[in-house]
Amino acid sequence: MSTLFTDIASLVRTGEAFGHLEVIEDAAMVVEGSKVAWFGKIADAPTADVVVSLAGKTVIPGFVDSHSHLMFGGERSEEFAHRMAGQPYASGGIRTTVKATRAASDQELRKNVERLVQEFYSSGITHFEIKSGYGLDVETEARSLKVAREFTEDVTFLGAHVVPEEIERQDYIRLVVGEMLAACTPHAKWVDVFCDRGAFSLEEAREILEAGIAAGLKPRMHASQLENLGAIALAVELDCASVDHCTHLSPEDITLLSGSNTVVTLVPGAEFSTRSPYPDARRLVAAGVTVALATDCNPGSSFTTSMPFCIAVAVREMGLTPDQALWAATRGGASALRNQKGSLEVGAAADFAVLDAPNHIHLAYRPGVQLVEKTFVAGKQVFERNK
Ligand code: NIG
Ligand code: FE
Repeated sequence: MSTLFTDIASLVRTGEAFGHLEVIEDAAMVVEGSKVAWFGKIADAPTADVVVSLAGKTVIPGFVDSHSHLMFGGERSEEFAHRMAGQPYASGGIRTTVKATRAASDQELRKNVERLVQEFYSSGITHFEIKSGYGLDVETEARSLKVAREFTEDVTFLGAHVVPEEIERQDYIRLVVGEMLAACTPHAKWVDVFCDRGAFSLEEAREILEAGIAAGLKPRMHASQLENLGAIALAVELDCASVDHCTHLSPEDITLLSGSNTVVTLVPGAEFSTRSPYPDARRLVAAGVTVALATDCNPGSSFTTSMPFCIAVAVREMGLTPDQALWAATRGGASALRNQKGSLEVGAAADFAVLDAPNHIHLAYRPGVQLVEKTFVAGKQVFERNK
């Protein structure tokens, strides 16, 4: 079946170059089954089985969220309240979620992911990555990844999130690169390490990532969120698809990144929720680094599923333009996952969102407003805003 979406005020396509958008005004788009079959000016639109008018609305490619931690039990609102009362953020909070995650059944974990994925859809996200990292024992890490695999092909093994309470540091690293990696590899595509103060050192990160690569996983990293331990040079050396957070980067880090295929994934929800300084996206962009935006959805440092919120904060606080932020949240996320999503192309999956707004600038211009009206994944509507 074909559907003609017409009277679109503005249809936004992402170009190959960072931040480049092509905006077609008074546009129409045809979706045939799961794919985009045509787009262009209304006047040139072909006929279709069904016609849907999107008068005054904007169509954008679905957001690609390249960094989320949806496999968890419980929540940490108390910790957030303490932080807002002046306590600093520390990686140790992760252990609170580890207890709740180990206690949750597969079905409880699955239900939690289902709820959060529905929130993703309501925010216009059509593709997402999911990490483990709140199990930190062989059984819970493996079952977390197995459940995550039901929702996405981009599943990341993050056994190296922190060292859990019950085991010595060296023993845990042996477990991660040994039995845990072996049990997790069949369910994952990526390996990630939290290389930071209170988590894993640079040497430990190297050992864990190299073991993951040898097992067939592709590397990515949590880097320089709390402190710069020199993770960027390692990430570039290992050709990590992405380095995430990057709150603290040196000029040398930026030079290295600009000559690499490694994307910098900024996660404004984390600085927002931990009351940390925002990294300056403008100096990355000026150096030619590819930037992605992700929710980092997790119960500790960034409990948001809203990509429009991340866009608004990235524009206001990190210095991205609205065009760059939209690109970073679509094609940037896709680059961070090394796939071709995040762009409306004839023949590509019809993954898109309809905004109740005359153009995409409204995503940053109207912070906190539910502008996403409908979301489609592979031509199928997965969300509709209540009228
Ligand atoms: O990406 N930085 C490390 N991991 C998560 C936070 C985990 C937590 O506090 O539960 C993050 O921010
Ligand atoms: Fe994270």
